[in-house]
Formats: sequence, C-alpha cells, structure tokens
Amino acid sequence: MPRRGLRRVWLWLALTAAAALALAGWWNVFGPGAALPALSAANASQLELGGQLYRQHCAACHGDRLQGQTDWRRRKPDGRLPAPPHDDSGHTWHHPDAVLMSIVRDGLRPPNAPPGYQSDMPAYRGQLDDQQIWAVLAYIASQWSQASREHQARITRMHSQMH
Ligand code: HEC
Repeated sequence: MPRRGLRRVWLWLALTAAAALALAGWWNVFGPGAALPALSAANASQLELGGQLYRQHCAACHGDRLQGQTDWRRRKPDGRLPAPPHDDSGHTWHHPDAVLMSIVRDGLRPPNAPPGYQSDMPAYRGQLDDQQIWAVLAYIASQWSQASREHQARITRMHSQMH
C-alpha cells in the first residue's frame, strides 16, 4: 500500500476511536442509567421504595407477584403482546441495566423495539424520575433467583464495556 494510503487508514482509525470514546463518555453522562449504581447494589430502603412504586405503577399489568398476564406469549386480538412476567419465568433478566432503564423511561420504541412497534408498555419519562425507575427495577431484580441475578449482572458488565 502506498504510504499516503496507509496514513489515511491510520487517520480514519484514530478518528473512529475518538468518536467511539466521545460516544462512550456521552453515554455515561447522559445515557439511560447514567451515574446510577448497578441494580444489584440497591440497599433495603431503596428496595422498599421500589416495591411501593412497583405496586403503584406496574402491578396492574405485570402482576402483584411479578407473574405477568395470563398467556403472555400469545398476542391479543389487537395484535399486541400481553405484559410478560418480571420473575425468572420472563425475560426481563436477559436485559442489561441500561436497556431496562431505557425501556421503562422511553417505552418500546427504537432503539428498544423496531420503528412503528405497537405496545401497551407505557413510557414513564416525566412520571417517574431516573432514581425511581432505578428503584423499581432494583426491586424487580431483587426477586430473581441468584443464578438469574448473576447472569443479568454479567450481561450488564459486558454491555457497559461495549459502550
Ligand atoms: C398498561 C400495562 C403496563 C404497565 C402499567 C406496565 N407495563 Fe411493562 N410492559 C407491558 C407490556 C404489554 C409489555 C410487553 C410489550 C411488548 O413486548 O410489546 C411490557 C414490557 C415491559 C418490559 C420489557 C420486558 C422484557 O422482557 O422485554 C419491562 C422492563 C417493563 N415492561 C417494565 C415495567 C415497569 C417497571 C413498569 C412500572 C413502572 C411497567 N412495566 C408498567 C405493559 C405494562
């Protein structure tokens, strides 16, 4: 490869790396879950608050025991999905902390769902602040088995290394 071409490749790599770093910095400061500890780090009073908020805002659909709606895998006549369980039998614990924060804050729209996706899951932005959303999710996480908690903590670490 001619020297000039090589230099251009290096410049391109450096610029891409700089852009990735800038994006990661932005994500940590402004992204969902910014500056909040891991869900698994909640203390007893945060879990207490999370439980109250869960019963107030989420239990009507996701169930007071996190069991979800009956037949939650089958679409309703309107084509939408019922509310899934948040316990081990659902798939909430397959998502990293930041994705869960983003789903609850902004709802199931891009990047959490394909464009135009129709869902009954409300967006809580403006109704619950980030600390409250974090507390609800920490409460949910506290109800998982130890194996599920460890799995979710692992994908949370992997996800935050990627960003
Ligand atoms: C009006 C009913 C309703 C309420 C209230 C509601 N949800 Fe949901 N939620 C849903 C439905 C329905 C889905 C699945 C939607 C889909 O996939 O289309 C869902 C999905 C989710 C998911 C994604 C789960 C996964 O495995 O992908 C999370 C996380 C979630 N809800 C958290 C909450 C939290 C936390 C609250 C309370 C602050 C809440 N929801 C309140 C109906 C509701």
